[in-house]
Amino acid sequence: MSASIWRKKPVERLIAEKEESRLARSLGPLDLIALGIGAIIGTGIFVLTGVAAALYAGPALIVSVIVSGVVAGLAALTYAEMASMIPVSGSAYTYTFAALGEFPAWIVGWNIILGYLVAAGAVAMGWGAYFGELLRSLGVELPPALTHPPAQGGVINLPAALFSLAVAGLVTAGTRESAAVNKLVVLVKLAVVVLFVLVGAWHVDPANWRPFLPYGYAGIMSGAAIIFFAYIGFDAVATAAEEARRPGRDLPVGIIGSLAICTLLYVMVTVVLTGLVPYYRLDVASPVATALLAAGVTWAGSLVALGALAGITSVLLAVIYAQSRVFLAMSRDGLLPPWFGRVHPRLRTPYLNTIFIGGVVALVAGLVPLEVVAQMANIGTLTAFVMVAAGVMILRRTKPDAPRPFKVPFYPYLPLLSLLFSLYLILSLPRVTLMRFLVWMVLGVLVYFLYGYWRSDLAPGDQRPRWRFFASPVAKPRRERNE
Ligand code: ALA
Repeated sequence: MSASIWRKKPVERLIAEKEESRLARSLGPLDLIALGIGAIIGTGIFVLTGVAAALYAGPALIVSVIVSGVVAGLAALTYAEMASMIPVSGSAYTYTFAALGEFPAWIVGWNIILGYLVAAGAVAMGWGAYFGELLRSLGVELPPALTHPPAQGGVINLPAALFSLAVAGLVTAGTRESAAVNKLVVLVKLAVVVLFVLVGAWHVDPANWRPFLPYGYAGIMSGAAIIFFAYIGFDAVATAAEEARRPGRDLPVGIIGSLAICTLLYVMVTVVLTGLVPYYRLDVASPVATALLAAGVTWAGSLVALGALAGITSVLLAVIYAQSRVFLAMSRDGLLPPWFGRVHPRLRTPYLNTIFIGGVVALVAGLVPLEVVAQMANIGTLTAFVMVAAGVMILRRTKPDAPRPFKVPFYPYLPLLSLLFSLYLILSLPRVTLMRFLVWMVLGVLVYFLYGYWRSDLAPGDQRPRWRFFASPVAKPRRERNE
């Protein structure tokens, strides 16, 4: 027990706590790879590739995709080491708690909340865009007021908001059910992506790749900073640690396997997409389907739209799932109120926080424009990557002998590179995004010092809050919190 904001949670204690977990252990290696792919391929590749090619990188988006893939890949290796060493719900948040201490862990958790909640909103909007496209192809046009947020002249993006609530409902229903639905959806999504690449490849016109660098080299980096969104999600595998049957072996397989498959597919999709139509015509809400339609392959266009809908569904499923497990871990540590960690006795899922997430995501998806939201998700996730890379290096020094079923190769260069590349991508984001992020961080620091610092499990028993606005005066014994 310590009054310091650097108080750490011992790795042994994290693992012991996991043993008390009430979550069902139902996920094997294939489930975990499917969870990863399910979380990764979605709005990023089906929607954001359009804006990124048209306005930021041009056909050089192909290079941007490789650059972000490398950043994500390096981070995936650091996550894999941490996940195998500390196979506990909470992912980057939990690792930072063990390596750097409570306050940095809170900041990481706060950023993951930003990353996930906001990413989920963006993902739901991507779904809304393809849903509109599909209805249009059936001759049904929804009123624009009900498909656009206020900043774009509408009232609310209703399909995106309702969809968020429906998916949160499914996650609440249970992990096994979600995993089964997820595997089916992932198959459909993979089939559609492969179909796009195979059919599209026949209609590529190499003239569309010229000029390759209409926005110069800087365009490659800004393109990478935006399209990075497409890779968010492999970390969702790490949040499933307590529900994995053999976490030490299967988490690294799930994380690295899903990311490798997705990177390969993304490069192929971008090559074909930028070869099908001139890059400046890709600034549309459903570029992958639109490109096929523009190339005259109408039958495949509608099929791809259907697949995109299925694919984006699984992303939302995974992101909401991952966020609910991070809330669970943070509440278990006393940094968030106990109801965030309450597990339903029959469903065995953290139902209250999942319902809360559904509500917040519905609001974001319904009321905020897509690009703003996607960039905020990127910055939150990249900050977590920086902290995980730092955590790997710190734990190698402070806990050199702890068992690590998976170890990052080329230590210490690889985690160091991961840290530097993630920082570089953060700085390549637009300035306004960095400012918004600062505001979020200030809020996070306030919440910690008004609530978490006092209510933390690691706070000394006699620690009394000076501000009684958020925190009640007496710290609760920790056992109660898991009831
Ligand atoms: N990577 C996820 C997507 O592309 C968040 O939708």
